Amino acid sequence: MSTKTAQDDKIRARFSHMGLVVKDIEMMEDFYTNTIGFERTDGGMTTQGVIMIFMTLDPEEHHQVFLVEGRPDELPSNTIVKGGGPSIHHLAFRLESLSDLRKMYKRISDEYDAKIFTGTHGNCWTMYTTDPEGNGIEFFADTPWYVTQPFLKPMDFNMDEETLIEATEALVSVAPGFTTLQDFYKDLHERVPARESVLT
Ligand SMILES: [Fe+2]
Repeated sequence: MSTKTAQDDKIRARFSHMGLVVKDIEMMEDFYTNTIGFERTDGGMTTQGVIMIFMTLDPEEHHQVFLVEGRPDELPSNTIVKGGGPSIHHLAFRLESLSDLRKMYKRISDEYDAKIFTGTHGNCWTMYTTDPEGNGIEFFADTPWYVTQPFLKPMDFNMDEETLIEATEALVSVAPGFTTLQDFYKDLHERVPARESVLT
């Protein structure tokens, strides 16, 4: 097959949304809208009597997360990681800055008693926790760097911001593949086309 044919056959798919089956849809809507900041775009009951809620953080997507009732009371655990989810590993949310990530860390630690892990993947600072029904969630904010993945080192988000940035740079600057995030995305832009706005 020539390169030209391969290009013509290429179907451009973009990730849009995911659906979560939930037990307590009001509690879950409250968490995703009030704690994380999703905007509810639609919702209601189907003719079969099932409640569905649509929400987004992106003005160009009707919904990114869809909640629907019906989760069983008990689900089996991950077969390797004890206590881990059986199918959803985590949903991840990009935050604007390290300072926003530290605010979210404080909000989650003050308002919930869920376990929290904080660290860096080198290309971002990250915080793993769970939503009120135990689905894994991650909040992250970009660092200015890139390193070969997987890379994960624990970090204490109670350190002041300047110390945290310096400690991260010391860790990542000696890691394999170390470069700037800008260089990584420059290369990625050549491999994955940008989307067009719905408004143009
Ligand atoms: Fe992730």
